[in-house]
Amino acid sequence: MASMLWNETLSVGVKTLDDDHKKLVDMINELVDGITSNRRQESLSQILDKLIHYTRFHFRREEEYFARTGYTAAAHHASEHRELIRQVTDLQARFRSGGASLLSLEVMKFLKEWLVHHIMVEDKNYRAHLNANGIR
Ligand SMILES: [Fe+2]
Ligand SMILES: [Fe+2]
Repeated sequence: MASMLWNETLSVGVKTLDDDHKKLVDMINELVDGITSNRRQESLSQILDKLIHYTRFHFRREEEYFARTGYTAAAHHASEHRELIRQVTDLQARFRSGGASLLSLEVMKFLKEWLVHHIMVEDKNYRAHLNANGIR
């Protein structure tokens, strides 16, 4: 599967958040590479842990910007974050319990769609609001 690349179409107009998104894209690519090159489950599990850890950090950063600027869609956006974390930790649990080969394709597709959809739809919605509040 070709690497997914961050490009301007994914920009949300805020430097720190774009940088976070680039890191998340890199981690997903690392995971996809690991799966296609048949890295050990242990090692894939570590990459997935790292991805989840950074995702939590990134979601907190966005939510902190929302709180600081009084973003009206904050509650809705945060509930999307919680749902994404729920899905990805569920995936992690299944992955750990041994469904590696079965989950490979599912993991790749899910994570790409997961990230790209959230950035393209939910994250882009905060652009004008954060920029208007001096966060860019
Ligand atoms: Fe984001
Ligand atoms: Fe978000």
